[in-house]
Amino acid sequence: MPPFRRIREGSAMIPRHAVIRWGEPLLLGVGFVDHDHCEAVEMINRLAAAAPTERLDLARAFAHHCVEHFAREEEMMVKTGFFALDPHRDEHIRVVAQLEEVIRALEAGDPCDDYFTVELPQWFLEHRATMDYVTSGFALDHGWVE
Ligand SMILES: [Fe+2]
Ligand SMILES: [Fe+2]
Repeated sequence: MPPFRRIREGSAMIPRHAVIRWGEPLLLGVGFVDHDHCEAVEMINRLAAAAPTERLDLARAFAHHCVEHFAREEEMMVKTGFFALDPHRDEHIRVVAQLEEVIRALEAGDPCDDYFTVELPQWFLEHRATMDYVTSGFALDHGWVE
């Protein structure tokens, strides 16, 4: 199913003030991953609802959160010998670069509404459902207990 359809169907259940609703269906079973993802959802919801002038600080904090979370996932991939480390890490690098670009656009006065209300929430849900899902399942199958 194309990702946009999945998101659209899901969003019918989401309260108007939130672009993503955190809940059990989003859990992956690795403690730090679920903890970080819960924080990410909270930050993404705040970013989507924020006035354009409030977005810059929130976006910088979110980029920092992503850098730290991605490093933790990459460490888990290395330690468990995950077979698709490179594409997953490349995707993290791409998203951090994109966030830096968006932060520059915010600094220049562009509110980047589509990015924060559509693209970023969609990216998070897709990334969780694909790369993070496979990575977490592999880690749990290979003795990861944290
Ligand atoms: Fe993740
Ligand atoms: Fe990831």
